[in-house]
Amino acid sequence: MDYSEAEKKLRDYGQEHILRYYDGLDDDEKKALLSQIEETDFGILSYIEGKDKVQRGVFSPLDALSIPQINERRDEYYEEGARIIKDGKAACLLLAGGMGTRLGADGPKGAFDLGKTHPVYVFQRLIENLMDVTVPLAVKIHLFIMTSEKNHARTVDFMKEHDYFGYDPSFVHFFPQEMAPACDYNGKVYMEEKGRIATSPNGNAGWYSSLKRAGLDSILRDEGIEYINVFAVDNVLQRMADPVFIGATSLKGCQVGAKVVRKVSPDEKVGVICLEDGRPSIVEYYELSDEMKDAKDAEGGYAYGYGVILNYLFEVKALDAVSDDLMPMHVVEKKIPFIDDDANYVKPKEPNGYKFEQLVLDMIHQLSTCLPYEVDRDREFAPIKNKTGKDSVESAQKLCEKNGIKL
Ligand code: UTP
Repeated sequence: MDYSEAEKKLRDYGQEHILRYYDGLDDDEKKALLSQIEETDFGILSYIEGKDKVQRGVFSPLDALSIPQINERRDEYYEEGARIIKDGKAACLLLAGGMGTRLGADGPKGAFDLGKTHPVYVFQRLIENLMDVTVPLAVKIHLFIMTSEKNHARTVDFMKEHDYFGYDPSFVHFFPQEMAPACDYNGKVYMEEKGRIATSPNGNAGWYSSLKRAGLDSILRDEGIEYINVFAVDNVLQRMADPVFIGATSLKGCQVGAKVVRKVSPDEKVGVICLEDGRPSIVEYYELSDEMKDAKDAEGGYAYGYGVILNYLFEVKALDAVSDDLMPMHVVEKKIPFIDDDANYVKPKEPNGYKFEQLVLDMIHQLSTCLPYEVDRDREFAPIKNKTGKDSVESAQKLCEKNGIKL
């Protein structure tokens, strides 16, 4: 794209300010900016207008397979899941493309050290949990790691420096996700440098399209992988490739399994699993009406009482039916670093604009069958989202220690 084409594209979207510093850039910077303008989908900015008008369908409860129900058939589920894993039909995918702005640590969240007396990195915790499955079963499981251009190099280097925490590197595959522009409250895209538009990762739903773009889906096809377990980086007690979970999802014939926890209170800030217009769906905590919060099931428990913990098991053959175009766009208020009118770099302390994200939880609604699978929150749910308080380093450390993990 040349200068005049870039200028026209920006004019069409009311973003001419992006070329404000163009004349002062060197040739490489000019080229880079023009190609960033060419690649950027400014059409995404139009979602700001409809951000408060998301139309939802009719909700009804979706029961989970509870821990007592799982225990009744645990051996059977285990055998089925262990068979799938030993046949090489299961893979894992770690979502590590997020910016972790709430935690605010330098570097990728996976490189965060939560140890007290010795280093215990988030990635290390996750690999150790995965090896709790691979070592006793004497198998290797492909681990795909989604990064973003903001943390890709540091993630790859970190894992290499730490010898992949004992995992076989030939089974670890990194790929970057796509980015979206970030803008102020008036829809004007921020600049993060004189020659660079401010961008942020486009949400965790893009994992399948980004995996395909990186050509890594060939591994799924060539090896006949049937299930892929997608999970978040921040839960340091996350149990992935869990044979019982895989076996239950397979024997129940579901296109996706979702690990869930019983909510501690109707107001807990977790996405709730349910049906929406008869299909599986997840309602974010801020979308839950009081009526849904208080609704009871036949046994007197909360009808919408299970929250998701970002651990999903997708049946690979169901994924081709999922389309990014059908997923809602979440317009999220965040802190976006930018250069001000005098070209000074500013790292805001408060949210100053919007980022655009599609979320993995919205993939569930495009599938027809989902198994909510209950896990014990004290053993499997220790998210690190914030510096202090709820879902923080401190709360995760406590839960790790409760589970006998030396920090
Ligand atoms: P969060 O919703 O906690 O977002 O991500 P975040 O960006 O990491 O953190 P904040 O909101 O800025 O503090 C949940 C999971 O999804 C991944 C994260 O890495 C985490 O594992 N994620 C999120 C991506 O992989 N890509 C994204 O674009 C967003």
